[in-house]
Amino acid sequence: MGAKTELVCLSDLNLNYCRGCHHCLETGVCAISDDVELLKEKLLRADGIVLASSTQAQTISGNMKVLIDRLLLHVFKQSLQGKCVVSVSVGGFYGMNKVTKYLNDTAWAMGANKVGSITARSWEKGDILKEGQVLTRANKLGKNLVTAIRTKKKYPLQTFFRKTGPLKLFRKFILMYPQRMPLAYNHWKEKGWL
Ligand SMILES: Cc1cc2nc3c(=O)[nH]c(=O)nc-3n(C[C@H](O)[C@H](O)[C@H](O)COP(=O)(O)O)c2cc1C
Repeated sequence: MGAKTELVCLSDLNLNYCRGCHHCLETGVCAISDDVELLKEKLLRADGIVLASSTQAQTISGNMKVLIDRLLLHVFKQSLQGKCVVSVSVGGFYGMNKVTKYLNDTAWAMGANKVGSITARSWEKGDILKEGQVLTRANKLGKNLVTAIRTKKKYPLQTFFRKTGPLKLFRKFILMYPQRMPLAYNHWKEKGWL
């Protein structure tokens, strides 16, 4: 549909574990210098994000978990607000739906709208091509993503449940400990969310 896309493979990047030092919450910058900053820029610039992970031990890959942990500030800043997300997972046998749900819910908690997801069975490279309609379904999901972005589709139920769920808890936490996350506090104040 003419959307400009970019594929980023997490295993090609230098990604390190979050140390839980909260430096990002205090300064806006991670204390670890690696490829995460670059990746963050790409995520924040994108209108739509396709999160893809293979299923490992019924959950997301280690690389994907490392990335998500490193986005802590952006959970509190709701940095994915207004963006659309879809999730994709492959697995050999079981747990792929848990992966796409986790990926979509994580992006939703950062402010994104969940447009859809797709799972498929694949054990080794190429297996996916033996899966009946999977490429057709993937194609349709991609089109839905682009349409949602172009039409600025609203997701009132998702917004409602975000406000009454995670955002309510974040607000309480930010008000309780503003000194622990000054950036998030100021952001929420500017937005009139406090
Ligand atoms: C450590 C490990 C754990 C796995 N756990 C699961 C699992 O819980 N459920 C599943 O369906 N497949 C599981 N698989 C299979 C992978 O999801 C499958 O091989 C997938 O196609 C790998 O894709 P990738 O090469 O893009 O990472 C596991 C594979 C590995 C190596």
